[in-house]
Amino acid sequence: MLEVTALPLAELRARTSEKWREYPDDVLPLFVAETDFPLAPAITAALQRAVAAGDTGYVASRTPLADSYAAFARRRFGWDPDPGRMRSTADVSMGIVEILRRVVAPGERVIVTTPVYPPFFELVTEAGGVVERVPLRDTGTGWELDVDGIRSALDDGARAILLCNPHNPTGTVHSRDSLAALAALADEYGVAVVSDEIHAPLVQPGTAFTPFLSVNDAARRVGYAVVSASKAFNLAGLKCALMVTASEETTAIVRRLPVEVEWRTGQFGLLAAVAAFSEESDVWLDGLLHTLDRNRRLLADLLAEHLPGARYRIPDAGYLAWIDLTALGWGDNPARRILQDAKVALHYGPAFGTEGAGHVRLNFGTSPEIITDAIERIAALVGR
Ligand SMILES: Cc1ncc(COP(=O)(O)O)c(C=O)c1O
Repeated sequence: MLEVTALPLAELRARTSEKWREYPDDVLPLFVAETDFPLAPAITAALQRAVAAGDTGYVASRTPLADSYAAFARRRFGWDPDPGRMRSTADVSMGIVEILRRVVAPGERVIVTTPVYPPFFELVTEAGGVVERVPLRDTGTGWELDVDGIRSALDDGARAILLCNPHNPTGTVHSRDSLAALAALADEYGVAVVSDEIHAPLVQPGTAFTPFLSVNDAARRVGYAVVSASKAFNLAGLKCALMVTASEETTAIVRRLPVEVEWRTGQFGLLAAVAAFSEESDVWLDGLLHTLDRNRRLLADLLAEHLPGARYRIPDAGYLAWIDLTALGWGDNPARRILQDAKVALHYGPAFGTEGAGHVRLNFGTSPEIITDAIERIAALVGR
């Protein structure tokens, strides 16, 4: 197993991205979804080649990206998407907005399953839609889609579903059964499902990831997947994502998007994504998953030891931990006090929807030392 180890703090502080520039140096930044690992070697090599050659123009109209993603999906998920039914764009957010614009009329409602990645609220609005919240159901051991709640919202006139699979912030990997139920419902009501699968490469071994479009014919009729290498391989600033479809009708909708949507793909993003999806990067991704597996368990141990009031379920995917701190009595938005007094920056729970009251989201895509320091700093506030 390749060891994928986070960079030391001093090196990370030399980075100039949002994670490292939002707060002063006395704050440990565990908020935004960037990771602290070096790049996968194939990505570094591809970007170095491009810099050396001054290969910094527009993306070409014919690139290996779709084939490269299809091969990745085959190897990693056992899914065989058709490269002829994919188009690139700058990022997952843009793909979601552009698709939603075509599948809902202004003022129509789009279902989101809260607590959810906060920009979803804005993306729906940007596309002209209105957010309809159908919270995830807490099963006692995890979370799942509330299929009955979604049916009620559709009965009430909602026209699309913006799915997050795997789910941010809970790390839930939706089961094939719940996705099949969702697809059947969407098909029955004739509404679209836009499936954000940005965290899919980060599903841990032992949990099966089900791409929405692989579920059944109903899913292929109603579904659009938006995928990217950007979360797993930390490429968010380079701007590249893919919109994937699997039926004549949905493919036609994506094909009709203005060519400008595709032109916004970043050249570096595309080169990096092709390298990320290549077989050469599998060993790095496996190493990353191993590191994240250790971190998600370390966090459970640290919370049990230092913050026994915290409620945390080990996520099945990703590097984001959804932690309920209600028992500590630090109010609806505990991250505020934690930032001010412990100098640890976490994502604010209430930003994910009202279900996020009392919660924080912590990014453990970093070193065990930083995770440990963060939890010890937070624990020092207890009783103060
Ligand atoms: C679920 C989800 N979707 C989309 C994004 C943003 O992706 P992009 O930068 O490609 O727009 C994130 C970023 O963390 C995310 O967690």
